[in-house]
This record gives sequence, structure tokens and C-alpha cells, in this order.
Amino acid sequence: MMRTKIAGIGMYVPENVVTNEDLTKVMDTSDAWIQERTGIRERRFATRFEDTTATMGAEAARRAMERAGVTAADIDFIIFATLSPDYYFPGCGVLVQRQLGMGEIGALDIRNQCSGFVYGLSIADQFIKTGMYKNILLIGSETHSYALDFSTRGRNVSVIFGDGAGAVVLQPTDHPNQGILSTHLHSDGNDAESLSMPNPGFHGGKLWDKVKPVQPDQPYGGMFITQDLLDKDDLYPYMDGPAVFKKAVVKFPEVIREALTKNQLSAKDISLLIPHQANLRIAQFVQQELGLSAEQVHNNIQRYGNTTAASVPIALCEAWELGKVKEGDLVCLAAFGSGFTWGSALLRW
Ligand code: UT7
Repeated sequence: MMRTKIAGIGMYVPENVVTNEDLTKVMDTSDAWIQERTGIRERRFATRFEDTTATMGAEAARRAMERAGVTAADIDFIIFATLSPDYYFPGCGVLVQRQLGMGEIGALDIRNQCSGFVYGLSIADQFIKTGMYKNILLIGSETHSYALDFSTRGRNVSVIFGDGAGAVVLQPTDHPNQGILSTHLHSDGNDAESLSMPNPGFHGGKLWDKVKPVQPDQPYGGMFITQDLLDKDDLYPYMDGPAVFKKAVVKFPEVIREALTKNQLSAKDISLLIPHQANLRIAQFVQQELGLSAEQVHNNIQRYGNTTAASVPIALCEAWELGKVKEGDLVCLAAFGSGFTWGSALLRW
């Protein structure tokens, strides 16, 4: 049976390193608090007027295409996962198509936040298995730093996130011991606003009760970006950290076990688990819960922070570059985040 393989992988992170100590200069926080609660030591921030979510994604894509031995002309579909697009619309997929000089191929943007890359992988897998496409470019890219609240008020969110991009080129393979074995996607919208950025939105002022309602100052239009909203600085992401944490530590192991059971495998068979880099404490909990050794899990949140849709491909790329992923290895990818949405993928490298 035809499967989908990762033919090439690449990553790009901006040069600008921002340490916890740097953040203490703009808000009331400490290196000790951030490290103890999240494991993060530093993250990368994009350079204004230079890096964007699309340009970083295109750079990661270039590296992935080079490693896959393909050119822009070979790519027949783009999937772009991000929660921080350059524009409200159009999405970043077409910006990459333009920047890399690709043909008039399909470009799909997906909005699944932290699980965007795993969702994208699943979508690509279906297109490849049906024979519709032969070279899909899947990108996860984020520029959080342009839109976070770096005052003390926003510290529970802003110390966590970082910028960067990862990309893969996906191709069909008929090798019996290679490729994606299965993908598993889930959602639960009951807590949709627990990790959200409601403004600017097309919600027409009907908002979840914990988000302040905004009175439009004109009868039509304005997209609810009112002076009131600007005055209250209410244009930032909202996160109920403890609620997200509690759900994540249940759903991560659950969806990994689902993938293992589906393939009649067990946790000891996993060569490397790449969990979405949400919080080192979450990854460590998952490791413990599944009885995995430290060598079976790759974490790099310490150096990059949480890069949402980019975190899985960045961690996978880094692990591959370090020689931690070898031919025939069983690799498990898993993610959980805003929505809530979560998912896993099991693949043979
Ligand atoms: O990838 C997307 C999915 N997101 C996640 O998975 C995030 C999941 N949640 C978390 O990782 C954690 O909830 C956080 C790291 C965000 C927060 O850690 P926590 O242990 O849950 O802290 P908390 O929000 O319960 O806050 C504890 C205290 C509060 O002070 P009081 O009320 O106890 O006096 C906060 O005001 O820590 C305070 N605090 C901070 N102090 C210093 C919150 N943020 C900071 C900060 N620096 N940056």
C-alpha cells in the first residue's frame, strides 16, 4: 500500500535571542519563575520589517525542498499552518507560493493552532494516499512576538511564546517499512475561548462571557476594532493557563495511546516522541505517564519557547539534524492546543 513519507525537512528561526532576563526588563517576571513553570530559558523573536510568518515559512520550506531534492516547480500543493498570519486574509499559503515562484498550485491555510502541523500532516497524507499529489509542502510558522502583551498584565502568555518555522516535503512511498502509519485528530470546542484571541473578530460583539464585550461606535462595519478596545489594550491572546495545562496532560497521553493501539504497538516501540513544545512540564508528565525514557523524547522548548504550529516540525528537524532520527525508526508526533484541538501521528522514518 502507498504511504506518505517525509522526504525533506527544514527549519528557520530568527537570529534575535531573547532570554528570560531580557523579559524582566519589560515586565514583572523572573528567570526562576519562567524556568520553573515552563522550562524555557530563551526564545527567538522575529526582526521587525524583515521576518514575517510567510517569509520564515518560505525559508524553512526552501531548506526542506533542498533536502528532499525537489525544486519549487515540483511542489504540487501547499498546506500552511499558523495562528499568526501576515494578513487577516489572504492566508500565508499564497504568499509562499508567490515568494518561492511556484506554479498555480493549490494553497491551503489551516487554523488549528498548536496542533496545526499534525492536522496538516493528516490532510497531506490523505491527498498523497489517494494519488492526487506527489510533492506536498507542509509548513508550520509563527510570529508571536509582534502581537503579545509584554506588560506585566500579559506575562502569563508572553513569556511562553517564541517565533520560528518548520517545513516538510511529503511524497508517496511504496517502501514496506516507511511512512505515516496513521494520524488521529480530535477537538472539543466547549472551552474554545480558554486559549483564544477573540479580537479582532467577526463576532459582532457576541462574546464569551469572560471576554469583555465591546460596543461598536458606529452602526455598521468597524470589525469591532473600536477606540474602546484599543484603549483597553484588548487585542491580545487570552489564556487560562491552568485549564489548558489540565486538559493537555490528559489528552496528550490519550491520543498517543490511540495511535499505538491502532498500530498494535506499545510505548516501548517508540524510537522518538516529538511532543508539541507547549511547556516542558507537560512533556515530562507525558513521558512519565507513558513510561518513556528521556532518550525517547525530544524537547527543545528550553531554547525556542512555544512556537505553536512550528514547534513539532522545528523539534523534528532538530532531532533529525542531531542524528536522533534514523531510517526505520518509529516516530510519534503529538500536539494539543487552542480549540481545543489535539492529534497524533505515527510514522516510520
Ligand atoms: O501551546 C498552547 C497550549 N498552552 C499550554 O499548554 C499552556 C499550559 N499552561 C501552562 O503552561 C501554565 O499554566 C503557565 C506556564 C501558563 C502558567 O503556570 P501556572 O503554574 O499555571 O501559573 P498560574 O497561571 O496559576 O499563575 C501562578 C502565579 C500567579 O500569581 P498569584 O495569583 O499566585 O499571585 C500569576 O500572576 O504566577 C503569576 N504569574 C507570573 N509570575 C511571574 C503568571 N505569569 C507569570 C510570569 N512571571 N511570567
